Amino acid sequence: MAITYELIHTCKQTGARLGKVHTPHGSFETPMFMPVGTLATVKTMSPEELERMGAQIILSNTYHLWLRPGEDIVKEAGGLHKFMNWNGSILTDSGGFQVFSLSDLRQIEEEGVHFRNHISGEKLFLSPEKAMRIQNDLGPDIMMAFDECPPYPAEHKYMKDSVERTSRWAERCLEAHQRPNDQGLFGIVQGGEYEDLRRQSAQDLTSMDFPGYAIGGLSVGEPKDVMNRVLDFTTPLLPSEKPRYLMGVGSPDSLIDGSIRGIDMFDCVLPTRIARNGTLMTSNGRLVVRNAKFARDFRPIDENCDCHTCRNYSRAYIRHLVKANETFGFRLTTYHNLYFLLNLMRQVREAIREDRLGDFREEFFEQYGFNKP
Ligand code: GUN
Ligand code: ZN
Repeated sequence: MAITYELIHTCKQTGARLGKVHTPHGSFETPMFMPVGTLATVKTMSPEELERMGAQIILSNTYHLWLRPGEDIVKEAGGLHKFMNWNGSILTDSGGFQVFSLSDLRQIEEEGVHFRNHISGEKLFLSPEKAMRIQNDLGPDIMMAFDECPPYPAEHKYMKDSVERTSRWAERCLEAHQRPNDQGLFGIVQGGEYEDLRRQSAQDLTSMDFPGYAIGGLSVGEPKDVMNRVLDFTTPLLPSEKPRYLMGVGSPDSLIDGSIRGIDMFDCVLPTRIARNGTLMTSNGRLVVRNAKFARDFRPIDENCDCHTCRNYSRAYIRHLVKANETFGFRLTTYHNLYFLLNLMRQVREAIREDRLGDFREEFFEQYGFNKP
């Protein structure tokens, strides 16, 4: 088995899991946040910087790498790890989500999805078999099944047909997967907000015996309490001896609330994307560094943060760089935001180990400002 999960401790206060996932490129501790490197780069960060900030696994995208440079070139380079010089673990998303979020004029058929290239307009087709072949060529440690991620809200009837098709596609993914010994394929549970459909999806997929399971179709515009309720009834349907991955979620509150509900892995473009327009995550909430009030503020971004950015550079300097569109500014903000989330997950793991994640949540939410009316 390419991917195994080791449960280390369950928090007595919350039920959150402390564990480790073992992959062909080492192990990562869970719960863990995965920085997103869509085009085989976490925008503005070198692999050395990612390592220094404590990243252990990063995410990349089948859809984007298929379009450019093409999976054949990545394969010829010796796979994604060699191509981008990242020796930690890598997970690739299947393209399912990107086809639905980025392209227009898509047509879903039993065989797969017809759509248009979001850059050139060229006609394209992606199927479970094709998504597997591309991911086998890219060579990540963890690859994702090709699924449909329906919009929110979606009618029960639409969602039921979609869940059933996603299950049939999952079967085809398992069948087409050529490298089960060194690449772990995760199934993706869908079903939107509907408990009966989440149950059906989880039953279908767990009967297929994937080495890990993701919960998809969340963070697509639904309110936070809907996401938490879906997790409350979905996570218990997944096998406890395998990792659980909540796709596309990366706000600090959701990382904590997801961990409390038994999630082990998270990814999101949020920290890197907002960093590039000058928004920073701090222990006191979001800080918009472009704001005029920081022009002469020579304190670090977050006085409680010991990252490279906060130890060496001021709000005033970073504000100046960001406003002048200087690349170095975006490197400093990206480094801090990723460090902030990786460090948050370190604190979450420590709190699980000490059976006090509930207390940690209270303190964090209070300071971040989530408890304010
Ligand atoms: N990323 C965020 N949500 C999803 C999802 O539902 N499916 C896939 N494949 N990727 C995602
Ligand atoms: Zn910092």
